Amino acid sequence: MSLTETLSPDAQGIARAAELLAQGKLVAFPTETVYGLGADARNDDAVARIFEAKGRPRFNPLIVHLPDLEAARDIADFPPEAERLADAFWPGPLTLVLPLRAEAGISPLVTAGLNTVAIRVPENPLARDLLRAFGGPVVGPSANPSGKVSPTEAGHVLEGLGGKIEAVLDGGRCPVGVESTIVGFDHAPTLLRPGGLPTEAIEACLGAPLAAHHGMKVNAPGQLTSHYAPGAKLRLEVAEPAEGELWLGFGPGCAGATLNLSENGDLVEAAANLFHHLRALDAMAGEGQGIAVAPVPNHGLGRAINDRLRRAAAPRP
Ligand code: TXA
Ligand code: MG
Repeated sequence: MSLTETLSPDAQGIARAAELLAQGKLVAFPTETVYGLGADARNDDAVARIFEAKGRPRFNPLIVHLPDLEAARDIADFPPEAERLADAFWPGPLTLVLPLRAEAGISPLVTAGLNTVAIRVPENPLARDLLRAFGGPVVGPSANPSGKVSPTEAGHVLEGLGGKIEAVLDGGRCPVGVESTIVGFDHAPTLLRPGGLPTEAIEACLGAPLAAHHGMKVNAPGQLTSHYAPGAKLRLEVAEPAEGELWLGFGPGCAGATLNLSENGDLVEAAANLFHHLRALDAMAGEGQGIAVAPVPNHGLGRAINDRLRRAAAPRP
């Protein structure tokens, strides 16, 4: 791709943005916090391309954007405190991490294989119109290359991702300018990331202090391992599997693989298949049967794939 379309903040621009999302394309869109890099949250390939475009070295879980609480209920379960916060602060700069509904149809790349999902209903009218026009869940990490500052104008998005995404919907400057506040509900309502909605407002609404959370632990290797690691034992960089092992292949050289992440060696396709295939092989594995994984080149999305595979293969407590 060479040209990134700039779409106007009107009915025509919104219709075009929704159409591109439906085609599995990447469209940056304004929210009241920062610009998000949008993709259909149900489309594995589209979500994989988000990580590619951002150059993210890891598959961190992404936020799913929805037009209203009704739509959010199809995706996640709401404990009473979450219900209360959603009523008070949605639409707005608040993200809730909630139990993922099994039938939600969200790509496992979005949640990084976790059984929770981060959901947000943005207030920006263009964002809401786009979400309504598209009619499905949209993932939206900040629309910047990994490690760079989050964009608050369409021009920033083009500086960082021009040529790597199909379009940006130009909604002018984002008024809040920092990302949404994230609250989880694992045991008690917990602040996972400070952001655009002050914690004081959240605590006043709950009538209780938020539990503290030390860093985004979900990104730490040990934490994630237990969630998405298959039960079966994984051996990495295996060009030829041992007798009786299941074999997860990559590329054309893996004839006889039980499943192949990508027959043509396409890293975006491999990323899109990663969690699905790990799950399928784990279900297939008999008692004590291991999974051998073919080498995956360590560039582009291969780095994120290898990061996940290493964590899945790491010894468990
Ligand atoms: O304001 C915002 O929230 C912006 C705009 C575009 O909406 N979006 C944003 O998304 O910042 P993103 O994907 O860059 O931030 C995702 C954050 C990460 O820190 C991630 O670890 C956390 O949310 N997260 C996502 N899903 C999670 C989950 N299931 N459990 C815990 N943390 C989660
Ligand atoms: Mg970000």
